[in-house]
Amino acid sequence: MKIDFKELAKEYKTPLYIYDFDEMSKRYLELKEAFEGEKSLIAYAVKSNSNLSVIQKFGKLGSGADCVSIGEVLRARRAGIEAYKIIFSGVGKSNEEIAQALKEGILMINLESEAEMYRVEEVAKGLGIEARISIRVNPNVDPKTHPYISTGLHENKFGVEINMAKRMYIYAKNSNWLDPIGVHFHIGSQLTDILPIKEASQIVSDLVRSLLAIGVEIRFFDVGGGLGVVYKDEEPIPVEDYAKAIISSIRGLDLTIVCEPGRYLTANAGWLLAKVLYEKQNGSKRFVIVDTAMNDLLRPSLYKAYHKIEILNDEKDNEDSTLSDIVGPICESGDWLAKDLLLPPTKSGDLILIHSAGAYGFTMASNYNTRGRPAEIACEDGKCRLIRERESFEDMIRLEQRYLEE
Ligand code: LLP
Repeated sequence: MKIDFKELAKEYKTPLYIYDFDEMSKRYLELKEAFEGEKSLIAYAVKSNSNLSVIQKFGKLGSGADCVSIGEVLRARRAGIEAYKIIFSGVGKSNEEIAQALKEGILMINLESEAEMYRVEEVAKGLGIEARISIRVNPNVDPKTHPYISTGLHENKFGVEINMAKRMYIYAKNSNWLDPIGVHFHIGSQLTDILPIKEASQIVSDLVRSLLAIGVEIRFFDVGGGLGVVYKDEEPIPVEDYAKAIISSIRGLDLTIVCEPGRYLTANAGWLLAKVLYEKQNGSKRFVIVDTAMNDLLRPSLYKAYHKIEILNDEKDNEDSTLSDIVGPICESGDWLAKDLLLPPTKSGDLILIHSAGAYGFTMASNYNTRGRPAEIACEDGKCRLIRERESFEDMIRLEQRYLEE
């Protein structure tokens, strides 16, 4: 839908996260359709944007949830996602998290190490609940993405290698407290090359064939998330090609395909709206200082990630445009949102719109420098509404206040 950013800034102030729910739905339905004719479950990766209303939106469309902490599992449940559509992954689950996940009756716990398998078995036995599990396999494939978000190589901390996985499946099959029903892999995020996905999918489906041959009844083939999106000039993988690659690797097998998209569903359906505070010139260097910062959107500082930024004033790029950095008020040199951007002159109060901020934006935000996190807005069917209030000073000190000495 057409969003009136100026109006939203007036009503809700800045900085402000804004999401287009129609766009999120469209993307979900396109992906779901690409798997038509197959048994499939889309388990939305809650970490990309965990606002309850966002999760609820996907839940209403039929989505499950991929979670990496018990907090995310509880968010998914609170937002109405059925327990049998929830997957719990992560390299370091605590006993309490495992116990709570078992009590919730989620679809499966995704194991990331042998030690964790024994731990889950023990907790399951203590509760008298059989644990449905999958094992995250590390297929040792280079996903060709940013090293910080690449996970499918042995040098990464994620998953277990194939031979170890086989031994674990055999152990789990013979355990009274473990029910191995799924296999999982996730080779990285922001993937724009289909070959590593094909390769990983093939390696893991071969594993499934060998497991079925020895009586381990795998029913869920979980391919993780990772579908890339356009931030600048990337060429994303068409979802039809993605689905075809996966479907063809498991031809002849009776499996439910699970995929865990996060960024693909949310990134391009979200913006961070902010305001220019000042301009300043240090020698030859021009800075536009804005009222949002790395505590609201960490991706540029952490990954040198590019986000398209638009100034919403009437000046067009012209001969007065010069190169400028856009920076926030935080006391860190790394606090920048864009570097060397050609910008027309701006004035205090001009709005700036940061694109592709729907994924890993708010969820990675912090209170650094005691800055309250932004409010969040959902736009849908021609209307916009608040889905999270701006964090106040009182919200930020709530858990400390009563410990002050007299
Ligand atoms: N499944 C698993 C097991 C994952 O580890 C992830 C992401 C996903 C699904 C969802 O991936 P997506 O579809 O969103 O690519 N903070 C980084 C991204 C970290 C991704 C971590 N794992 C960023 O801002 O780019």
